[in-house]
Parts: sequence; C-alpha cells; structure tokens
Amino acid sequence: MARSIVSIINGRPADGPAAGVVDSPNPSRLADVVAEVTLADAGTFAGACAAAKQAQPLWAGIPAPARGRTVAAIGRIVEANKEALARLVTRELGKPYPEALGEVQEIIDTCDFFLGEGRRLYGQTVPSEMPDKQLFTFRVPVGTAAVVTAGNFPVAVPSWYVIPALVTGNTVVWKPAEYAAASAMALFELIQAAGLPDGVLNIVFADGPATFGGLEQALQAGTLDKIGFTGSTAVGARIGELAGRHLQSPCLELGGKNPMVVTPDADIELAVEGALFSGFGTAGQRCTSLGTVIVHESVHDEFLAQFAAAVSSAAVGDPAQQDVLYGPMLDQKFADRFEEYLGWIQPHHKILGSSAVGRISGASPRAGFVGDPDAGLFYHPTIADGVQPDDNLFRQETFGPIVGVATYTSFADAIALANAPGYGLSASIYTSNPREVFGFRGGISAGMVSVNNSTSGAEAHLPFGGNGKSGNGSRQSGMWVLDQFTRWQAMNWDYSGRLQKAQMDVTELTADLDFRLED
Ligand code: UN1
Repeated sequence: MARSIVSIINGRPADGPAAGVVDSPNPSRLADVVAEVTLADAGTFAGACAAAKQAQPLWAGIPAPARGRTVAAIGRIVEANKEALARLVTRELGKPYPEALGEVQEIIDTCDFFLGEGRRLYGQTVPSEMPDKQLFTFRVPVGTAAVVTAGNFPVAVPSWYVIPALVTGNTVVWKPAEYAAASAMALFELIQAAGLPDGVLNIVFADGPATFGGLEQALQAGTLDKIGFTGSTAVGARIGELAGRHLQSPCLELGGKNPMVVTPDADIELAVEGALFSGFGTAGQRCTSLGTVIVHESVHDEFLAQFAAAVSSAAVGDPAQQDVLYGPMLDQKFADRFEEYLGWIQPHHKILGSSAVGRISGASPRAGFVGDPDAGLFYHPTIADGVQPDDNLFRQETFGPIVGVATYTSFADAIALANAPGYGLSASIYTSNPREVFGFRGGISAGMVSVNNSTSGAEAHLPFGGNGKSGNGSRQSGMWVLDQFTRWQAMNWDYSGRLQKAQMDVTELTADLDFRLED
C-alpha cells in the first residue's frame, strides 16, 4: 500500500502550497507504489530553513553530552528497527537485502562514533606570548544546515550529515530524493523518536528547481549557514557557485569515475571479485562504483576472461527474493540516463558480460534471472573492453551496471590513465609490490585509496570525499566531518590588568646565534 508523505517542518506537516504530488515506485515491481509524495515549493523550503534557524539557539544550548546521549538513542532505535528499515530500502530502491542491512548498519556505526563526540568536542588551551594571559579555542556550531541527498544510499549517507550536524549543535533541513521518500521518512521518524525538539530536524520533499530556489531564498534571508550536497557533479558545481556568492563553502560529495589498477603481480582472482562487487553492486549506482579497470597488458587477457565469466554467471534480479549481485536501477530517471550511457559504446569496444546490452526483459532475457524482468527496471551487466582515453565511456561517470577495461604498459601510464577523467573520489590498486602501493597512493588524485580491495566499501569512520569533479575537498565521516559543522572560535583572556600588545610587548631572551662548538 502506498504511503502518503508530506514535509515536516517544526514538528508539523507543511501547510505551504503543494508543488505537485509524485509517486515513489518499487523499481523491481513498478506497479507497487511505495509512497505518494507531496512536493513543497521554494518558499516552503525557505520557511523550513527559517524554522530551523529559530530552533538553533535552543538546541545549541542543550549541553553537548546530552546531545551525544540523543545520538546514542538514535543509534539504538535504528538498531532495533534495522530489518524493517532495510526491507523498506530494498522495496523502494531495489538494493539486495544484505546490502540494505549493511546500509542501515552504517547509520548505527555513525551514531556509535558520534555519541562520544558530545563528551569530546575538544577545544584547546594554548599558551600566550605574554604572562597573565591565556589563549583558548572552541568549536562552535555553524548554525543551520540544509542537507540535500541522493537516493542511492537513502539512509546511510544522510546520517553522515545529520548525525554530526546535530551532535555539534546545528539544526537541519533535510531534502531527500523524492524516489527515496518512504525510506527517508522512516529514518526521520526513527531520529524524531529520540526526542528531538521541534524544528531541530526538518524534512522537506521538493524537486530540484524548488530546492535550488529555496536554498537561494534562505541564503538571501540569512537563515542558512551550510549546505551539504550529495549528487551529480553538474548540480554540485551550481550549488558551489550559489554558496560561494554568499561566502559559504558547501560540503560536496559528487560523482566518481573510480579506477582500479591491476598490476602484473596482482592476485587476479581477488581483483576479479573486487571488480564484480564494485562494478555491479547496487547496479553500479554507488558514487564509489568502479568505472574503469586499468589492467597491465601482460595480465589483460587472463583478467578479462575471468571477469567476463564472473559477470556472465552472476545472479541478477529481484533484490527481495534471494542473494542477487544486483537488482534494478533506482528509478526511471536513472534507467533513462543509463540508456544514454549505453549509447556511448563504440565499434572498437568489445562487449562482454551478458547475452545482450540494455534492458533485461522477456524479449531480451538473461540466463538465471531471478524474478520477472518485465516488472522492473533491470539492465544487463556490460563490460566494455578496449576503452580509450578519448571515449566518453572512459571520461564520464556512467551510473549503472557497466565497467570499462583499458590496458597499460608502464606504471606511470597506469596512474596517468587513472587520473585522466578528472574525478578523484575512490581509486584501487591490486598489487603485491609496496613500491607500487605507495607510488599509486602518492600519484593518484583520489580522496580514498584501496589496496587489494575494491573502490567501494568505505568504513564509516574514515574521511569520505573527493577532489576535482568529485568534490571541493570537503570530507565526511569520523572526526574530519567536524570541520564541516563547526567553526573554530579563538579566545584570549588577559588578566594582567594592563594592555599587553601581542608581538610588541614580548619578553625575549638573548641568544648567541654565532655560538659554534670548538673543533
Ligand atoms: C555513496 O555511494 O554515496 O563505500 C556512498 C561505499 C559505501 C558508501 C557509498 N559505504 O560504497
């Protein structure tokens, strides 16, 4: 049964004018509508920011350890609802159930990490140049944050923003993807159950233009202090530009064209397993998904044969039924876009991995498919061997179940190829040579590097984020995200009773800089 979902602002259903109603269907069975979502307009979005701004001083006034206890409670409540939330994620986004459980676990891990931060949020005591004076630093909340998230990680990635933002004393307006509305609302309810005061966390459903307009209005009104955005490079660039005009630096987590280098002495079987998981898990719709395997010419044929065999025999289909490698595309718009990417296949590419390219259907079946392919948005897995640096398939993110394979001769070429598309999120190398491990680490543009592991599967307490077209250098997760949601405040306290001037009234001992040891 479809659930009716509306934005919640200041603890109440939004009463602003609706900007339309959209369905969030189950992508494995399109006839199953999971939610009917009422969209808000730009003014309602801005109104949510104003409400959050108003609630912020009260929330920041609650001692940080108490906010940490609330985060602990959120973690426990999510844990107690782990299976129910994972089932909903599988139904609404088509993630295989074990992956959906992993996604929910990532929220719990995030809460586990940040529950203690309420008792840390350390500042420093710093010595002064002068006597009877003390220096300090304090972390202060940024204020109100708008968090705009994608639906490929409909609950884990939002928690990466919301949990640290809350524990550090910020209030939040969360704008989830419309096609992930039911999962988002479920997480919102679980967080609210921890007893947040009204207005501390608000959830707004809106389309892209209304969201952008709302951000603009709120920035103009001074009711928004930080934007967190996970999504495409193109939209991230527009958000960065908007924020920059208001002298703000957003937290941007954008696309990736994540390379995997397979060297001559790599464990090929392990590399194939990694390529299968990161290339096709979540139907290739993670921002950490594998883009191109860059394989040494001496092991190319061996790697490709094993990879093609693994992909050809992988189980694809209904993510709720049994263990499948991947299920459907997240939503119709991703299916449409993926069809465009498939149009980038050229005659010089050798295509492997399935019996056909494109949509899996009764007319274009895949051996071993689990369930009814015509019911949902299922696509054949595709390997495109022989991709070249000028190919779109090599240069652009291709969100979906397609992986390119390129060949290299020298190690320097491998690094140059890995950096060439200009993204810089996640990169992996399979090798047993430490020189190559550290050569790769030093030469690669990515924010995250895996050694003998795939490009996916970041743990929730290491810095997550990218460079170049993958982001503006902001990092989420662990202690590093604290710099997104707090600002350093420096304080000096002079208790000498007189004006002591820094740099001028400083005691200096006389040094004999000409002193040398006698030979
Ligand atoms: C994303 O795709 O936006 O590393 C996040 C991973 C997951 C998170 C991906 N833990 O693949």
